[in-house]
Amino acid sequence: MATERQMHMGVFVLGTGNHIAGWRVPGAFDTFQSLSVVQDIARISERGKFDLLFLGDGLSADPAAHPSFTVRLEPITMLAALAATTSHVGLGATASTTYNEPFTVARAFASLDHLSNGRAAWNAVTSSGPEAAGNFGRTHPAHDQRYVIAEEFVDVVNGLWDCWEDDAITINRETGQYIDPAKVHKLNHHGAYFDVRGPLNIGRCPQGRPIVLQAGASDPGLALAARTADVVFAVVQDLGEAKAGYAALKSRMAEYGRPQSDISVLPGVMPVLGSTQAEAKQKLDFLQSFVTPTNAIKMLSNRMGTDMSRFSLDGPVPDLPLPDTSHGFARTMLAKAKRENMSLRDLYNLTGAARGHWVLCGTPESVADTLEQWFVERAADGFNILPAHFPGAFDEFVDQVIPILQKRGLYRTDYSGNTLRDHLGLDRPARR
Ligand SMILES: Cc1cc2nc3c(=O)[nH]c(=O)nc-3n(C[C@H](O)[C@H](O)[C@H](O)COP(=O)(O)O)c2cc1C
Repeated sequence: MATERQMHMGVFVLGTGNHIAGWRVPGAFDTFQSLSVVQDIARISERGKFDLLFLGDGLSADPAAHPSFTVRLEPITMLAALAATTSHVGLGATASTTYNEPFTVARAFASLDHLSNGRAAWNAVTSSGPEAAGNFGRTHPAHDQRYVIAEEFVDVVNGLWDCWEDDAITINRETGQYIDPAKVHKLNHHGAYFDVRGPLNIGRCPQGRPIVLQAGASDPGLALAARTADVVFAVVQDLGEAKAGYAALKSRMAEYGRPQSDISVLPGVMPVLGSTQAEAKQKLDFLQSFVTPTNAIKMLSNRMGTDMSRFSLDGPVPDLPLPDTSHGFARTMLAKAKRENMSLRDLYNLTGAARGHWVLCGTPESVADTLEQWFVERAADGFNILPAHFPGAFDEFVDQVIPILQKRGLYRTDYSGNTLRDHLGLDRPARR
């Protein structure tokens, strides 16, 4: 089925795999502290013509958590290294709006955009858990307060990216003029949280402004995304729910005068592939056999924002209020638990598999069918793929599912541009 609208693909990279025990699969990468590991994953991404390679981040370490959430290199540093060995794939990383200064973030991503010739993307997160606070000598602001700060933070970053006109750097050997000062503007931002004079000490980016990603699904999270994001990562478990979430976000964009095509919504999905449905299920069962109360309960407690070890594992999932950590994950996971009458053990199994994201088990054809349906029915503009382990599960998706989507005209067979904006079909923005 040919269609003009095409899917966008991101890959969520964790060196030890997205599954909490992915690293235990024979042959799987077992570290997130290695350049060669992320380089290999980047090569697979470009073979699959992916829009975006994404590295999340956290600002604390807990040995009981997912191994790649506990032991991970600083992601912008990793992406700078990848910029040198890749040519097309977009390079996205998380930087917190609660534990950073906007000048530092604007500078880091502008640097990455120059180093990669226009492939940088910033995932603006508010940092859900309070764990980072102890590393920064601060108190963790409450959920909605974090978003008030984030609104101003994102504006300041965008403002700093807009300080330089495209032709401000003149490098005129004859006149001796290097910079035309009339084309470099201060920001002079004085807000409730930040005072930033500017200008940034980096000329205008190849993309004009790097891409902004967002992944919050609370009410203030959606408002921030509708106003400022180019790509939104969604947490999904059900087609109807995902369609409603997609429509709600897109319709909200009108409040900010933005066309709906300006945001690509990419739900997270962990594909588990087999030559038959039974074989795929067997692979998932093998991975799930490594999930234990100890390694999954920590993640579940984080998702639910409360210590889940105090509830009986084989009892029903308790009624819990939306936590201060993340509304998006808790709402989606609790709704699934209710729909499917899950026990707490079922819920931690789900968390161990894909941290609350959707697990899609099947043959390459059936997985392609489901992705197509979600795309055509406007639950998604593409997907953020969460391979259970690397490189194997990612290789399988790229070699077995991508060709089917390409044959159906749903996905590019080659890159048609060089920047991440090109891949996403977004124009280079004018300075505001
Ligand atoms: C795909 C995806 C990736 C995310 N990556 C990060 C991350 O790297 N670091 C982080 O602190 N939060 C991350 N988050 C959390 C969200 O960005 C958000 O801050 C959190 O869910 C709270 O938002 P909400 O209450 O608006 O849903 C991620 C969420 C999703 C769905």
